[in-house]
Amino acid sequence: MAWDVISQEKVVTNKDLEKMVDTTDEWIVERSGIRERHVAAPEQATSDLAFIAANNALKDAGITADQLDLIIVATESPDTKFPSTACILQDKLGATHAAAFDLAAGCTGFVYSSIVASQMIATGLYKYVLVVGAEALSRILNWKDRNTCILFGDGAGAAVMGPVEDGYGIISVDMGAEGSGGKYLDMPAGGSRRPASHETVDNMEHFIHMNGKEVFKFAIKVMGRSASKVIAKAGLKNEDIDLLIPHQGQYQNHRLCS
Ligand SMILES: CC(C)(COP(=O)(O)OP(=O)(O)OC[C@H]1O[C@@H](n2cnc3c(N)ncnc32)[C@H](O)[C@@H]1OP(=O)(O)O)[C@@H](O)C(=O)NCCC(=O)NCCS
Repeated sequence: MAWDVISQEKVVTNKDLEKMVDTTDEWIVERSGIRERHVAAPEQATSDLAFIAANNALKDAGITADQLDLIIVATESPDTKFPSTACILQDKLGATHAAAFDLAAGCTGFVYSSIVASQMIATGLYKYVLVVGAEALSRILNWKDRNTCILFGDGAGAAVMGPVEDGYGIISVDMGAEGSGGKYLDMPAGGSRRPASHETVDNMEHFIHMNGKEVFKFAIKVMGRSASKVIAKAGLKNEDIDLLIPHQGQYQNHRLCS
């Protein structure tokens, strides 16, 4: 019964997970705020989710795919190692004039991609850039690992970015990285360090591995610092901010502080 849950497109609830791993709805909600996650159908890959989101974004922007100059897909679960998911999406959309590449920056991928796109637009290199954040993380989740399977899901979001008048658009940015923490959230095998082998498959090394506590400590350390930096760079004060949308990893922090 349990495995039927992830063999089709569906919403997997915490109650479903209770049947698969030793966890409870209360435990998950209390720590993450998550009640359900979406899982793509078996025949859907990341580019299929990206395609749906991209078409909606193009429609909203009122432009056609052949007007795109660049496509950036932020993902850690590409259809294939190569070609890039951005190239696969370019083909699906018929965006024949667009350059295309993937950007791998984990949870920050969409933010990184938006900043890259904004700079290419600001320099005048490109006019319209399609930025997509898309993941089919259910494919690289060990559904027997309660540390990870409760947190991740599948989905895509997209935005068409283009030139705007002064005073509009992205006002200030802050990007960073802490490479030394990579060991706390990784997929150990499948790259040049540990190519796929029977051993890596047997050891479940092609799945997400996470030390949630360390990721949480890192997230609460840097998010406040980064938020303060962008507010200052924009010449604003904390009280000028009307809406703050944090990453899920901040959930417990929010809960503890409120
Ligand atoms: C993952 C997270 C919710 C876990 O909460 P936590 O309070 O730190 O929990 P811990 O990892 O310390 O585990 C506490 C206990 O619960 C257990 N536990 C872990 N997952 C569990 C689950 N799904 N259900 C029930 N118990 C669980 C642990 O085994 C541990 O038991 P022990 O004390 O007997 O060893 C939290 O650390 C978090 O939000 N981290 C950030 C995650 C994140 O943002 N990742 C990046 C996404 S890209």
